[in-house]
Amino acid sequence: MSAARWIATAGAPLRGELDVPGDKSVSHRAIMLASLADGTSRITGFLEGEDARATEAIFRRLGVSIETPATGERVVHGVGIDGLRATDGPLDCGNAGTGMRLLAGLLAGQTFDSELVGDASLSKRPMRRVTEPLARMGARIDTGEGGVPPLRVQGGQRLAGIEYENALASAQVKSALLLAGLYADGETVIHEPRPTRDYTERMLAAFGWPIDFSPGLARLSGGHRLRATDVHVPADFSSAAFFLVAASIVPGSDLLLRRVGMNPRRTGLLHVLRLMGADIEASNAGEQGGEPVADLRVRHASLRGIDVPEVHVPDMIDEFPALFVAAACADGPTRVTGAAELRVKESDRIAVMATGLRRLGIAIDEAPDGATIPGSAGAGVVFGSGEVESHGDHRIAMAFAVAAQRAAGDVAICDTANVATSFPGFVRLARGAGFGLQGD
Ligand code: S3P
Repeated sequence: MSAARWIATAGAPLRGELDVPGDKSVSHRAIMLASLADGTSRITGFLEGEDARATEAIFRRLGVSIETPATGERVVHGVGIDGLRATDGPLDCGNAGTGMRLLAGLLAGQTFDSELVGDASLSKRPMRRVTEPLARMGARIDTGEGGVPPLRVQGGQRLAGIEYENALASAQVKSALLLAGLYADGETVIHEPRPTRDYTERMLAAFGWPIDFSPGLARLSGGHRLRATDVHVPADFSSAAFFLVAASIVPGSDLLLRRVGMNPRRTGLLHVLRLMGADIEASNAGEQGGEPVADLRVRHASLRGIDVPEVHVPDMIDEFPALFVAAACADGPTRVTGAAELRVKESDRIAVMATGLRRLGIAIDEAPDGATIPGSAGAGVVFGSGEVESHGDHRIAMAFAVAAQRAAGDVAICDTANVATSFPGFVRLARGAGFGLQGD
């Protein structure tokens, strides 16, 4: 674990115009599909974060030539659906659950064996959610003890499509099965208990693979080919989220976030913040590479606590650390339920946020599937000073940097190096907007 740490403290009202980096989910998928396509694809807006770069490095090792003409750009010379080649030694997914789970499906359909490994956090995350349904398709994947990485994928298996009712609302599971389905005989159909992000489906369609999908359902057959296409990655709503919360809670703030990805399966936090009374205006709506985008203007507002409607949970699954901070600054308690998945993210986000918030004087009440966060009326200090652990979880680190903007004194945030997995340049951008934040 890295010793990197930040000192965050109340800064100035947040002002100006910001561009946040490219979407992590879209960047992973763009590398994967462009690699498997016939022809050359150009990716722009690619996230120069460690997670997406780990996936890129894996495809290079699998025999794909990828050029970097400029920061945020890639030119991928696709090798075709059957063109990947075996490589020696394990493939390192770093911190990325998305990388590992999607690759499990994709590699299950290859003729060669491979092994997927990850960092300390990823090595604790549950993988049976993908290996079990993939086994039903005929895949052979061994996990470490208890169903965690490493994953040893045996190639040369004949896969058959399945119809799968997923008990979890998980885009990673759905995507793993769809990518295996590219190599399977017959149809692969996935039903979800609640709709999840549909980037794999949208991007397969953009690369010319026949696919049917609607919220909560995806269906495709094996045996087609992918046609190279250019991908324009929108700005990551999950990165914008920290600024949406920060500007909402810091008096005097007025911030514009430009061209943010507005896929409805990602913008649950926007609905929930608005229910809490946030002042966020979307304008200049358009489309970028087939994805909706908009400018978001956010101004400080008095927030009120709410019961977060469970219907929004999958659409804001990565935004709960930021939401907990907003909730602590709202008038009245906020209750989160139906969010047990938070316990198996890059950290146990319920426990880690609860511990950190308590350190800063917030008497949060933890539940197995959520938490109740007491509010705090008024525009003054909400959090005490102190030291909090991020447990190497990028979103926890950034959430506490946001909290510190309403703190009585310094908040030391430990183990911040992994912010580079999703949001390289966060410190510089946040400081430029007005955050009090030291470190790198
Ligand atoms: C992702 C899906 C979500 C999300 C993760 C990215 C994706 O995970 O939390 O950050 O790109 O498909 P789950 O599918 O496990 O909910």
